[in-house]
Amino acid sequence: MSEVVSDQSRYLLNRKNSQKAIEAGLAEAEWYQSPIPRETLRELLVRRDGPAIRDTLVWFGIIFGAAAATVALWGSLWAVFPYLIYAAIYAGSADSRWHETLHGTAFKTDWMNSVLYEIASFMVLREGVIWRWSHTRHHSDTIIVGRDPEIAAPRPPDIAGILLGLFAIRAYPQYFKNLFLHSVGKISEREMEFIPESEYPKVARTARVHLLIYFLVTVSSIVFQSWIPVLFIGLPNLFGTWLMLVYGLTQHTGLAEDVLDHRLNSRTFLTNRLNCFLYWNMNYHVEHHMFPLVPYHAVPRLHELMKDDCPPAYASLWSCWKEIVPTLERQCREPAYHVERVLPESAGTDVQRTRRAGKLVDEEGWIDVCGGEELKSMDVLRYDHEERTYAIYRGSEGELYATDGICTHGKTHLAEGLIVGKMIECPKHNGRFNLEDGSPARKPVCKALKTHEVKECDGRVFFRIGDRLVKN
Ligand code: FES
Repeated sequence: MSEVVSDQSRYLLNRKNSQKAIEAGLAEAEWYQSPIPRETLRELLVRRDGPAIRDTLVWFGIIFGAAAATVALWGSLWAVFPYLIYAAIYAGSADSRWHETLHGTAFKTDWMNSVLYEIASFMVLREGVIWRWSHTRHHSDTIIVGRDPEIAAPRPPDIAGILLGLFAIRAYPQYFKNLFLHSVGKISEREMEFIPESEYPKVARTARVHLLIYFLVTVSSIVFQSWIPVLFIGLPNLFGTWLMLVYGLTQHTGLAEDVLDHRLNSRTFLTNRLNCFLYWNMNYHVEHHMFPLVPYHAVPRLHELMKDDCPPAYASLWSCWKEIVPTLERQCREPAYHVERVLPESAGTDVQRTRRAGKLVDEEGWIDVCGGEELKSMDVLRYDHEERTYAIYRGSEGELYATDGICTHGKTHLAEGLIVGKMIECPKHNGRFNLEDGSPARKPVCKALKTHEVKECDGRVFFRIGDRLVKN
């Protein structure tokens, strides 16, 4: 546990703070995972377009319906009510759409995730490229001081800042300042900590697109001499961000910092169907952090499977806030204070992974790994040999692949990932590798994986270390 001091400088993302976390073994560390049978986890990871298409149509239906009602009632005081609904859905619940599509798990079809991600990013005053990388770090180093760029309530808490945040008062100037700086290619020292240089041109392009949209909206308001364009694009965050914070601050606020167990630094709460719809099941936040590849529609099932290994879920949104408010108040006086989540007696605590070791069968270096039936279609096995670890895959047509086991972006084993076509998707940040040659197929992965030889003979799977590497 790091020493708690009474200012927030230790949260700044800079070399010094980052180095402290690295030296304490807290950066890019291995996190606890509840034991879920491999077969069951594979079922939970299945992506579908249907639920997210239905939910997105309903969601946009509410947004456009509220906008239409506002216009219809324009000029009367009654217009305030549909407008406030519009603003809360636009600026509040867009956050969960932003989040799920960022992970690439909401839809099965990649372009659908990308399109909704860009729209939702714009709606919540975020630049898509910057936040993609920031959230990647948040998942690697959740609530690790000096590493996590998304700690919502650093200690001692800035209560005035949180209250102003309900109306995005500080978010607006920060966002527009960043847009101007990024549009001319300026990246801050903080951002350089988590965004690779190759992404800078994309950051600039996105900033220019956002600025262009706001410019056109402002011009429309002036030309038509009407508040309506800026009221629908730009001002909703003033009136609707409160909903994002009501949900979002429950995730980690007031819980432990610098621990490598999401059960201790994240909250899961049970809630009604309306909140689940608006928040896209992110009330199951422990589950989401432990298994970020599980789509939002499967997270409630995941909760049932791992709840006995976790502290009890909070009974409601209200019960979270009954804990958060006094905790924040106390942390103003005692910054070291935090809520201790208590694990059930039967809960696991060790970071354990299934390890499998085969035997060398001939002088050519082939190793007998397992029976062919143990590696089903679209499945991955971890295989350890001497000091190294590997992943062995079977694609949809029965074909086999073998690669190094650890993702080149972070310290995550790819055997817990998801096969998508002829690629493996990393379970941590959804980066992808082509299985045929190990080349990077999706950010944040930038470096290729080594690939190895694998074959099936007489119903057994054999593997040979080849260390083939394509150029990055
Ligand atoms: Fe980040 Fe694999 S650890 S994509």
